[in-house]
Amino acid sequence: MTRASLDKQPHEVASMFDGVAKRYDLTNDVLSLGQARLWRKEVAKAVDARPGQKVLDLAAGTATSSQPFAEAGAYVVPCDFSLGMLRVGKERHPWMPFTAGDATKLPFKDDTFDAVTISFGLRNVQATDTALAELYRVTKPGGRVVICEFSRPVWAPFRTVYMEYLMKALPPVARTVSSNPDAYVYLAESIQEWPDQPALASRLVKAGWSDVAWRNLTGGVVALHRGFKRD
Ligand SMILES: C[S@@+](CC[C@H](N)C(=O)[O-])C[C@H]1O[C@@H](n2cnc3c(N)ncnc32)[C@H](O)[C@@H]1O
Repeated sequence: MTRASLDKQPHEVASMFDGVAKRYDLTNDVLSLGQARLWRKEVAKAVDARPGQKVLDLAAGTATSSQPFAEAGAYVVPCDFSLGMLRVGKERHPWMPFTAGDATKLPFKDDTFDAVTISFGLRNVQATDTALAELYRVTKPGGRVVICEFSRPVWAPFRTVYMEYLMKALPPVARTVSSNPDAYVYLAESIQEWPDQPALASRLVKAGWSDVAWRNLTGGVVALHRGFKRD
């Protein structure tokens, strides 16, 4: 398996990530032109993890996205269904409670986490609405969700340049740094067909989340959506 198709069959997605696991973080830094670090800082601020809180980092991959919550003193559970990504994560952060699990059938009890978050993962889940409902189920009343995902740049001229970057420049760059460049063709295509900011917000509301809002990062290349589970 080199890349998943856009119908996102779970076994294809998991095996595609198994294949990129070793060089995943390096490739991210290169392809995002350094922006990935800035996006992670903003996710940390939005999640606002505190010592003693339990945080679920879903689709955590190698747990790079989980680090800021651990550093804030929270108990963070990185969960993912790619055993390849989990294995690389466990080698790097042996103390973290890595958990194998599918976003559409989470291996956690109802009302477990103070905060749930997913960075660059939801777009890869075949059943988005089921995953949003599962995230809601495992969140404590009063808890929050933060979703960090590629989105739609708001300024049309910038959007045009960005789409050119995605479709034309990104695949050749990926060929030089990634162990599986085809996976980055999937990345570009899946970003293009992903719902824009208001559409994703409506899906959060449909899954039960309250006070849903979003904030654009890098002009909307990425959006942070947040919501709360009512007390
Ligand atoms: C682009 S990586 C993001 C990893 C990490 N959150 C980060 O920000 O670097 C996407 C991750 O989503 C995981 N994933 C995709 N679909 C999933 C599902 N249905 N259940 C659990 N994990 C899933 C993949 O295995 C992969 O590790």
